[in-house]
Amino acid sequence: MERNGSATCAAVVGAGLVGAGWAIVFARAGWTVRIFDASDSVRAGVLKLIADNVSDLAKFELLDEPPDTVLARISVCAALDEAVAGADYIQESAFETVAVKAAVYAELDRAALRNVPIGSSSSGIPASAFTEHCKTRNRMLIAHPVNPPYLVPLVELVPAPWTDAAVVDRAFEFMTNVGQEPIRIAREVEGFVLNRLQGALLNEAWALFDEGYASAEDIDKTVSVGLGLRWSFMGPFETIDLNAPAGVADYAKRLGLLYHSVAQSRTQPKAWDAPLIAKVDGERRAALPQGQLDARRAWRDRRLMALAAHKKKAAKEIGE
Ligand SMILES: NC(=O)c1ccc[n+]([C@@H]2O[C@H](COP(=O)([O-])OP(=O)(O)OC[C@H]3O[C@@H](n4cnc5c(N)ncnc54)[C@H](O)[C@@H]3O)[C@@H](O)[C@H]2O)c1
Repeated sequence: MERNGSATCAAVVGAGLVGAGWAIVFARAGWTVRIFDASDSVRAGVLKLIADNVSDLAKFELLDEPPDTVLARISVCAALDEAVAGADYIQESAFETVAVKAAVYAELDRAALRNVPIGSSSSGIPASAFTEHCKTRNRMLIAHPVNPPYLVPLVELVPAPWTDAAVVDRAFEFMTNVGQEPIRIAREVEGFVLNRLQGALLNEAWALFDEGYASAEDIDKTVSVGLGLRWSFMGPFETIDLNAPAGVADYAKRLGLLYHSVAQSRTQPKAWDAPLIAKVDGERRAALPQGQLDARRAWRDRRLMALAAHKKKAAKEIGE
């Protein structure tokens, strides 16, 4: 992992699932991390959770240093002011509601040094919805990660209409320095890019299930042993560029009309209503009983670690 030369201290505000993951990202890159969470129990338990995850990373050879060296960089603060004092970058990961984020940003507006970028992990609420009344709103933006951020490197950087372009550039540089893969979204759009893409696939999956074309299991398989294999190292545009002899234009000539026709068949999207949800839930709970969800989540994280380790090794072997 490349060491960062300019910024050395991150404040993590909100340390649930995602905030705790961010702490690992920054500490793994050599940064000092100061965590603040409003909940006493989260503040009391987060270091143990982080230590368990860091120890798993070491087992999969995804750490360049001993776990204790990484963990020694992380501390928990009893007050927000203490966490953000002297921070070079702040990552907010509080609850996904406008009210909570607006309250946190009002505090950050007051407490954090004026020129320090503040990125929000918001999954879909644009920064303009909760930073409008901040005096220093020009340094606030969305830095949307994928969970857990220390295993899935993408970060969507989305400016509000008033975010300085230079702040987006700095956030881009910080994210790159800590080993993440930032992308720039030109302007605010509901769901940003990641959840719009995910939404397109999910909406089609629910519709196909609803109309009885395939089981939830088979729709899942279409991705897990079909489309998804390529998607862990290339996106949809590169996929189709390689799937026609003369590239993307050739693909569009051959199959563009088919996709347009499919899109026209879904101009009246249906909400995921209660009876439909109950049917999908029924199939999922028969395949995975409620009590096994946590164990399966842990399995998913181990699979992700194995994939991250493989990608690291493969990139070296292929000389990327
Ligand atoms: N879970 C995901 O898969 C995922 C992925 C990407 C982004 N996100 C986004 O990240 C953010 C956090 O999500 P999460 O899944 O970690 O939720 P979470 O419920 O696990 O954690 C939220 C934390 O914020 C704390 N908090 C609430 N109000 C606060 C305040 N005023 N000051 C400080 N801390 C406060 C809570 O105590 C809690 O620990 C949300 O915006 C969410 O949409 C989540």
